[in-house]
Amino acid sequence: MTASDAPTARAPAGLRDRRGRMLRDLRISVMDRCNFRCPYCMPRETFHETYRFLGSHERLSFDEIVRVTRLLVRLGVRKLRLTGGEPLLRPNLTDLIGDLTAIEGIEDVALTTNGTLLAKHAFELRAAGLQRVTVSLDSLDPDVFMRMSGGFGGLEEALGGIEQARRAGLGPIKVNAVVQRGVNDHTVLELVERFRGTGVIVRFIEYMDVGNRNHWRREAVVPSRELLERIGARWPLAPLEPAYRGEVAERYTFTDGGGEIGFISSVTQPFCGDCTRARLSSDGVLYSCLFATHGTPLRDRLRSGASEEDLLDALRALWRERADNYSEQRHQGAQAAEGARKVEMFYIGG
Ligand code: GTP
Ligand code: 5AD
Ligand code: SF4
Ligand code: SF4
Repeated sequence: MTASDAPTARAPAGLRDRRGRMLRDLRISVMDRCNFRCPYCMPRETFHETYRFLGSHERLSFDEIVRVTRLLVRLGVRKLRLTGGEPLLRPNLTDLIGDLTAIEGIEDVALTTNGTLLAKHAFELRAAGLQRVTVSLDSLDPDVFMRMSGGFGGLEEALGGIEQARRAGLGPIKVNAVVQRGVNDHTVLELVERFRGTGVIVRFIEYMDVGNRNHWRREAVVPSRELLERIGARWPLAPLEPAYRGEVAERYTFTDGGGEIGFISSVTQPFCGDCTRARLSSDGVLYSCLFATHGTPLRDRLRSGASEEDLLDALRALWRERADNYSEQRHQGAQAAEGARKVEMFYIGG
């Protein structure tokens, strides 16, 4: 064994990918549909009335999702996040949450939502065992919000959802805002001000080149550093240690006690080195990167009586062979990386 392939401190014995990363998180997209058409995710020109979303029999059933999750827990998964599209459009989602939170070994179950249906469901989600929610909310300016939701509006509903989630105890609540230059970057301070001192943690996400349809341009990315300076000039900030190894957000605290904010900077400061996330699409394809071209289809195997051992072998092989580091490649200017066909964000969640 050479020094370069010896186990490292961050890769103890157990299942590791080719870069020494363990499998810890599973992000499950339960629904490919969404009631928004955010241009950076599901632009209207593609996702129009006649776009063919999955039929209900094409989506994994709750039993199938639970089965895959149990297998992945045996390989290291401890943390789950339910995403979409919009996960609250999936009927009876609380039943799934109840089943997932009961799996031994699972330590954290969270949900990412646009918040429009959250007020209605917050208490039943909490009762089913959900621990916390993250709400995507890009601006408090009604016109900007309207534009960024693809013309659907819903700002008041999303704010009402956050309030109801707070009452239900689904915290710490996080607000994710994707920032695009010339679109919502002028509304960032307002978002900070609104949630400062409330316990809600606002995180600003650099606009990413996910999928193939959002016409991403590097010029539209607002580097987190720039936002940090602007926000810090108004309310002094001090850096915080990551809450856990591999956290995607860089955390800061207001020095006056106003709470915490975060920056997710996958374009200017990639975090592939610590990426322990796998993603399951709503039709049962497992992906090892948000920017993957191919995944491993599981649905037919699940439906044709594959044994636990066969499935485990396939999943183990998938993780062992994983070498993904898309954001690092993009950062290094690898043209091939940006040109590759990629899975769509709405289909595997964020
Ligand atoms: P917690 O710390 O558990 O609250 O969650 P998180 O910060 O990992 O999660 P969240 O799902 O809120 O992620 C926020 C955003 O970060 C996503 O919507 C993506 O835009 C981005 N993101 C999350 N994971 C990855 C990743 O693996 N790669 C890249 N490039 N971006 C990611
Ligand atoms: N760049 C960055 N984040 C994105 N999201 C969706 N599309 C993009 C993109 N192009 C985020 C949304 C939401 C989560 C589901 O993914 O803000 O929080
Ligand atoms: Fe829907 Fe979220 Fe995509 Fe917007 S970012 S279209 S709310 S899935
Ligand atoms: Fe993980 Fe891929 Fe994101 Fe890198 S680009 S952090 S490998 S999901």
